[in-house]
Parts: sequence; C-alpha cells; structure tokens
Amino acid sequence: MKTQVDKAYQKCINPDCGAEFDVMEVLFKCPKCGELLDAKYNWDKIKVPKKLSEFAKRWATRSNPLDFSGVWRFRELLNFCDDKHKVTIGEGQTILQRNDGVAKYVNMKPGCLFLEYEGLNPSGSFKDNGMSAAFSHAMMTAAKTCACASTGNTSASMTLYGHHCGLNSIVFIGSGRIAFGKLSQAMDYGAKTFQILGDFDDCMKHVQSVCTELGLYLLNSLNPFRLEGQKTIMYRIIEGLNWDVPDWIIVPGGNLGNSSAFGKAFGELKDLGLIKKVPRIAIINSTGADTLTHLVNIEKLTWNNGSVNRKIIDDYYAELTAKNFSPHTIASAIEISRPVNLKKCLRTIDICNGLVMAVPDEEIKDAKAIIGKHGLGCEPASAATIAGLKHLVADDVIANNERVACVLTGHLLKDPNLTVNYHKNKEGKFSNPPIEVPNDLEEIIKLIGST
Ligand code: F0G
Repeated sequence: MKTQVDKAYQKCINPDCGAEFDVMEVLFKCPKCGELLDAKYNWDKIKVPKKLSEFAKRWATRSNPLDFSGVWRFRELLNFCDDKHKVTIGEGQTILQRNDGVAKYVNMKPGCLFLEYEGLNPSGSFKDNGMSAAFSHAMMTAAKTCACASTGNTSASMTLYGHHCGLNSIVFIGSGRIAFGKLSQAMDYGAKTFQILGDFDDCMKHVQSVCTELGLYLLNSLNPFRLEGQKTIMYRIIEGLNWDVPDWIIVPGGNLGNSSAFGKAFGELKDLGLIKKVPRIAIINSTGADTLTHLVNIEKLTWNNGSVNRKIIDDYYAELTAKNFSPHTIASAIEISRPVNLKKCLRTIDICNGLVMAVPDEEIKDAKAIIGKHGLGCEPASAATIAGLKHLVADDVIANNERVACVLTGHLLKDPNLTVNYHKNKEGKFSNPPIEVPNDLEEIIKLIGST
C-alpha cells in the first residue's frame, strides 16, 4: 500500500480545519470538526496523461478488466488505490447518446441534447461507478461488513459489490419508501435488510451511528472514495463529445453525491490543464423534496470559500423538524430532505456556476414517458432532468442551441409499478394503455386496422 500513500490522502473540506488524513484511514467525517472529507491527490507524483484522449486508447486493451471498467479506465484521475485492490464487475459501460426526439420535447435544436444512460450499469444505476471505487478502498482497509441507508439503488449496488468482494451487507430502508425493482435486488443479492419505520433521512442518521458503534464500512456518498468513482461519469460524457465539454450538465439532486462528484471532477480537470472551460450545472429536485432549492434560491446559501453559513441550514432543518416534515415524491430515489453532501454540492455550484430548481411529480412522470418513447427507459428521478430542462429552455436560461448532457441515473425496470400505473391511466398526457380486445381473430384484425 505504501505506493499509494504518497499519491493520495484525505482532507477536511472546512477551510478553518483543513485536517489531513492517510488514505488508509476509514473515516466518513473529519474526526476533528465533523465536516465532510475529500479524497485528494499529490498530482505531481502521478503520471497523468497529457491529453484526455489518451484514455481512449485503453479500449484496445479491454481484455484487461481495469481497462474494460468505465471507472478504472481513468485510473490516474482517481489514484488512491493500487491495482491489486481495485474492484470491478464491468461498471461504466455507458456512452453519451444524442437524442433529437427528447430535444424536440424540450424545444431544443436537433444535435444539442445528449443523454448519459447510467441504467446500463450492472445493478441498473449510476451507483456502480461509485461502488467500484469505494469497495476498492474497503478492500485496501480490509473491511468485513458494509452498510448503507438507501432509497433503493445504493442498497442494490452495494449488495452486488459486497457479494463480489465477500463482504456481508447491511441495508437500512424507510418503510414503504422503496421501489420494488430495487428492493428485489437487495433481497436477491443477500443483504440483511432493516426496514425502519421512518424515511430515508432517519435511516441515514441511524446507519452512521451503527457504522461508528460496530466498525462497519459505510457505503453512502459520505464516503469520499465513492464520489471518486462517480467522477468518471463526467469523463465519459466529455469522451462522448470527443473530449470537449458540453455547455450544461443536468443531474437530479437527492443526497447530492453526484453533483458533488461532478464539480470535483471538472475542478480537477481544469486545474490539471486537461480542459479549458468548466460546464455549467443544473441540479434538479422534486418539489416534494426540495431542500437544496429552498436553501440556495430562497435562503441564498452559498459555498463562500468553504465557510458555509451553518446557521441557515440548522434553522431550516429545525423548521422541518418542528413541522414534522417528511419529504414525498413519486421520484422515490430523491425523496430526501437532509442531503448529506449539501456542502460539497454548494462547492460544485461555485465551481460550475450552477443553478438549482425543483419540478413537480406530474412533470417528472410526463418527461419519463417521453424519454421511454424515444428509446431510453429510465426511473422517475432520472426524468427530473428533462422536466427541469424544459423549464430552463422555456425561461431562456438555457439557449435552444447550447450543448446539454443529462444524466439518466437509473433503469426503467427499477420502478415498474409507477410506469404501469402511468400508462394504464388513460388521462395521462402521454399514456399508452393496453388495448382490450375480445378473444376473436376478426375483431383483433379490425381493431389493429383502426389504430
Ligand atoms: N437518481 C437515482 C436513480 C438515485 O438512486 C439517486 C440516489 C439519485 C438520482 C440522487 O443522487 O444522491 O447523488 O444526489 N439514490 C440514493 C440511494 C439516495 O439510496 O439509492 P444523489
């Protein structure tokens, strides 16, 4: 492990603290001040390719599992782990796809909208990018049991990787808050699943205490190494644009791990001189779980060079508690009101000149049906990106000829109930209900002719 120690370390994001820790320490918060930790690199000790396009050469050697992995293909940019401990099950085989049909729905010009479909990952969501990296750290530090709180996808992905690495998996989910596809995965892959009578935020609170008490390895996005893996989603987007950056990245916001990772990725690439400009980012909440939108747009909370005004956050959370508020949205993946990566996300908004907005459930459902109709089935949280983009184009925040990349975070089959209910309801704007026909050939042929 000595080889990595001089290349990577962990550092507290609080500028007044800035404590540094060895890469081999298992920490999910700064032991000195309690703030979030970053994975950091001594870039002068790492041989980073001079041009981003050099990463593409690894396609030619894809029989090497580390070159095949859409995460480890970019290994110099997340250089905290030696090859021996790197974990992969073939994640990140995702490519950026131009989609003119969806572009038309949001009133953008053909050739301007691109979708990064992360549903193609082994467990069906973007989480696998993060898990391959975090489980590598878990293997480096000889973890035995892993744990997470989840709205579903984290648990599915963690359990799949846990199984691969020979670790036991403990999952906390909110009662009745998890889509069936995801629950079925956690159970089938063998997780010990605890259903708490509460929401995701309750589960998140408990899992942190459980991990500290019992020395379990935490796989939520508080884990700085998970976010390192999720940076590669951005590398693949710019790869899809021939190593050019888009004008905008659009991503759903839940626990805010993705948005945090994306800003870090672009900040590092810019500092390394590998890109000339950083794209703007739009982070989309659901109106039923809109903490980030409220704090940024109404309370004007900012990164402020790392000195985030904690009082604004504490006062808002106290208000939520006083109201006994629990978030509710059909986009169950982002049904979160106390996002653990809030501060890192504010940093991303700072780096990427970002903006935040919330969209209602009805618009998420319609956008999901449009994405499905144009060939890429996704789950509701993913479709929040397109629902948000439609507003941003209508409001002239995004021009119809700018280049936009939306991250579709999870597969359609994660939440089949919602999809079936939408299409069966004949009132739905884009619903496509099954047509009932008598058990009679002539009638069937007649009906086909009339549709
Ligand atoms: N989209 C999907 C499909 C998700 O599963 C999640 C988060 C998000 C978006 C939000 O991403 O947290 O990085 O802002 N799911 C977590 C889970 C919370 O437990 O599976 P984020």
